[in-house]
Amino acid sequence: EAQNERESLLIALGFARDFFVKNLQTAEGKSIGLSYFKERGFTPAIIEKFDLGYALDGWDNLLNAAKKAGFKEEILLKAGLILQKEGDASRVYDRFRNRVIFAIHNISGKPLGFGARILTKDKNQPKYINSPETPVYHKSDVLYGMFQAKKAIRDKDNCYLVEGYTDVVSLHLSGIENVVASSGTSLTDGQIKLIKRFTDQVTVLYDGDAAGIKASLRGIDLLLEGGLNVKAVVFPDGEDPDSYSRKVGSQAFQDYLESNSRDFIGFKIGLYKEEFTKNPIRKAEVIREVVQSIGKIPDPIIRSVYAKEASGLLGIEEDIIHAELNKTILKSQ
Ligand code: GTP
Ligand code: MN
Ligand code: MN
Ligand code: MN
Ligand code: MN
Repeated sequence: EAQNERESLLIALGFARDFFVKNLQTAEGKSIGLSYFKERGFTPAIIEKFDLGYALDGWDNLLNAAKKAGFKEEILLKAGLILQKEGDASRVYDRFRNRVIFAIHNISGKPLGFGARILTKDKNQPKYINSPETPVYHKSDVLYGMFQAKKAIRDKDNCYLVEGYTDVVSLHLSGIENVVASSGTSLTDGQIKLIKRFTDQVTVLYDGDAAGIKASLRGIDLLLEGGLNVKAVVFPDGEDPDSYSRKVGSQAFQDYLESNSRDFIGFKIGLYKEEFTKNPIRKAEVIREVVQSIGKIPDPIIRSVYAKEASGLLGIEEDIIHAELNKTILKSQ
């Protein structure tokens, strides 16, 4: 029974994907959705590769097409494609309307859900509307772009981690295919396990704003705890991988990644470098910050390699790092 339901949901989601993809080629889709993507530099090939689409401007375009194709409202509801009207559950309408669509795939390329971006700068509406949790879409086990990235992640033995859908698409346009997005939420153990199926090395490329740096710090610790080898890159203020790659072009972007990838210790020191050299109290804080992250690493040998590196970079005796490390490890047990 449950297996049957899963199958029905996947079929409905596949129908919706096809519908959104087709809509992009209608007159309305071309003049609104396709021109939006073109403005962002998205090519026809990349639009096809990512199943990018368009949700028509109306309350029931998908609903009617799906019903006509034989899908029951109950299935469309469970798949997260339609919503019940507040106060009148017998009335239903499309969740995604008048937005461009990013299909979210499982690792075999089947759509599990969608992210839908607004086309205007209207601040009263959410920029993105995403599918809800459903029996087939468990957000904590999915990374956007993994289907398109998995081979390249294995080949390069590295996975770039970005925040957004458009960052993934833009990196592909810049010739970088080993990239997935956490889609603006905190990383989960399930997502980390998914990455570990393909590589042990992650490079975090979060947005160059306060929120992005905060999310990087949290993400780095989670990845270290998961036993992954972590690097990170900081982008200039206000830039994300999408905007920055379009600004400087793909070659300069790739060079930027090469020369600005730091391991987590270098990344943390870099965040504080100015105050750090002058102010001993700030320096002590940075040391504790770095030690705290090293303490997350499950493998004691790797931990001691990083302790040695930290000692050199911070100019502090290794014994002190180890003493501090023992305190944080004791505390977390
Ligand atoms: P663009 O503005 O189109 O370039 O998108 P972005 O990916 O740069 O957006 P941003 O950095 O603001 O957010 C990163 C990711 O967080 C997005 O790709 C979405 O997955 C998610 N996100 C952003 N805004 C919203 C929102 O309003 N609601 C929800 N649920 N998720 C959002
Ligand atoms: Mn490996
Ligand atoms: Mn952001
Ligand atoms: Mn962004
Ligand atoms: Mn962006």
